[in-house]
Amino acid sequence: MAEVLPAFVLPSEHRPGQVNSTDGIPVIDLKGWHWEAAEWPQDRSYRESIVRQIGDAAQEWGFFQIVNHGVSQRVLDEVESSAREFFDLDLEEKRKVTRTADNAMGYFDMELTKNVRDWKEVYDYLACERAEIAPKQVFANKWPSNPPEFRDACKNYSAAMEALAFKVLELVVESLGAPAKALNEHFVGGSTRVRLNFYRKCPSPDLVLGVSRHKDGCALTLLAQDEVGGLQVKSKRNDQWVQVKARRDAFAVNIGDLIQVWSNGKYQSIEHRVVVNSTRDRFSCPVFFSPTYATNAAPLPGLVNENHPAKYKPVNWGEYYKMRRDSNFKNLGKPNVQI
Ligand code: SIN
Ligand code: FE2
Repeated sequence: MAEVLPAFVLPSEHRPGQVNSTDGIPVIDLKGWHWEAAEWPQDRSYRESIVRQIGDAAQEWGFFQIVNHGVSQRVLDEVESSAREFFDLDLEEKRKVTRTADNAMGYFDMELTKNVRDWKEVYDYLACERAEIAPKQVFANKWPSNPPEFRDACKNYSAAMEALAFKVLELVVESLGAPAKALNEHFVGGSTRVRLNFYRKCPSPDLVLGVSRHKDGCALTLLAQDEVGGLQVKSKRNDQWVQVKARRDAFAVNIGDLIQVWSNGKYQSIEHRVVVNSTRDRFSCPVFFSPTYATNAAPLPGLVNENHPAKYKPVNWGEYYKMRRDSNFKNLGKPNVQI
């Protein structure tokens, strides 16, 4: 096999190395997540147990997996097969929908962290189709004409995942002791973005990363992945990288920076990265559940008192996202910035 281009090669201190740690990451069974609120009181202890598990995982890890999430296998299969067909097209064809400096949606294969290229190709789209991030700056989806079912598959996926993300948000917010729907209004017509990631098998997986270490800026990330694996999270317990068990029946969930602010630091967004391998391509499909760009996130009032002063000033999501994006584009060498 060919060697990797120098642009992908990481300085030795950032190379993936051996990860010995076993998983240990909480897997939470959401059977019944789609119940309407009116049904909950009949089985209050069941919901309470889920809320407790989510709160514990969010606090201890900033990361967990969910199973029995209610999203249909057909929707998942269709987005995966359309994405694989798309990434299989010639580069010239894919670049017809390429991301540009003023519109962050579309195809991209040149993500840089610390001047080094990630070993991946991505396609990004907004669940809401278009959104104004700043005056006169609109992000809008760029749909490829090939494969023909691509757009429908993507739209079905984002719709199902956003519905689930609202439910997970409610459980997270409830676990903070606030009314479950306290934050929902910010996410109606929000700026949720979906990323299709394709990590080709790599001749020198020990020299590169699929995604360099970073934290997610959004509220929550829900990620579907195939069985190949490669996602690693930095354990808060011992500061070691932990390889996440890849499960087709689960979604991985990250606490993002915005929940860190809303929770006044009780829940923290976790550092993570992606390793690649020499034998198999990998597909993953994160949904960055995000409020409207106009949202100002600030610690929830119930979490701030004399003993617990606010740790964060209000964060405007549009400005924060733009700052992360611009600093990545300008390549300022910040280790934790990914868009
Ligand atoms: C990401 O963190 O952006 C991607 C994670 C993954 O592919 O597992
Ligand atoms: Fe991420």
